[in-house]
Amino acid sequence: PALTQDDLKKLAADKAVDYVRSGMVLGLGTGSTAAFVVSKIGELFNSGQLRDIVGIPTSKRTAEQAASLGIPLSTLDKHPLLDLAIDGADEVDPALDLVKGRGGALLREKMVEAASSSFVVVADETKLVSGLGGSGLAMPVEVVQFCWNYNLVRLQELFGEGCEAKLRVDAAGKPYVTDNSNYIVDLYFKTPIKDAASAGKEISALEGVVEHGLFLDMATAVIIAGKDGVSVKTK
Ligand code: A5P
Repeated sequence: PALTQDDLKKLAADKAVDYVRSGMVLGLGTGSTAAFVVSKIGELFNSGQLRDIVGIPTSKRTAEQAASLGIPLSTLDKHPLLDLAIDGADEVDPALDLVKGRGGALLREKMVEAASSSFVVVADETKLVSGLGGSGLAMPVEVVQFCWNYNLVRLQELFGEGCEAKLRVDAAGKPYVTDNSNYIVDLYFKTPIKDAASAGKEISALEGVVEHGLFLDMATAVIIAGKDGVSVKTK
């Protein structure tokens, strides 16, 4: 039978867990692909194949999953240097730059992944794009709740007609609230972002913006699972 998207996510996840060694401080990502990673790490830890590991979760959701598997957890405060972080992504471009945060966890993900000496991304081939913003799906910006619409308008002005800025809402139509009690403005680009580095800087320069979902020059390796197998791309 043909491989499902979940099969592909799991293949990429298992390959990434090959990089995990006993004694490591590990960044645990968020999302459906990262959940396969956490579950595999839990399996190896519980069978004694991995020892003395510490997980730094990138969301409350991941913390709950890891805790339920008995994985020892800690924080960036106690472990400011990580050996390895593994996480999914929403878009991966040819330079291994990423869009992340459709799952809402971008701020903690960026903090934890920036603190890791190695950051491995796991994805199925549907995440590959030729340019960031090119999937037509959201590029999230976490903003403080205070006057969020003011920030939405400024983000909209920054990118003009080539982009639509929308407040993220939950299933009930209420503003989506992040783990850090902020809101998210999703940017929908009509064409790929021309200069993601400048775009990132301009977004960050807006007062009231907490973080954005462009993860530039952060990934050490990307593991892509597709119908033809699993490939590892490095810089
Ligand atoms: C979470 O905030 C995101 O950055 C996820 O890493 C991203 O959305 C990928 O999720 P999936 O693995 O579920 O596609």
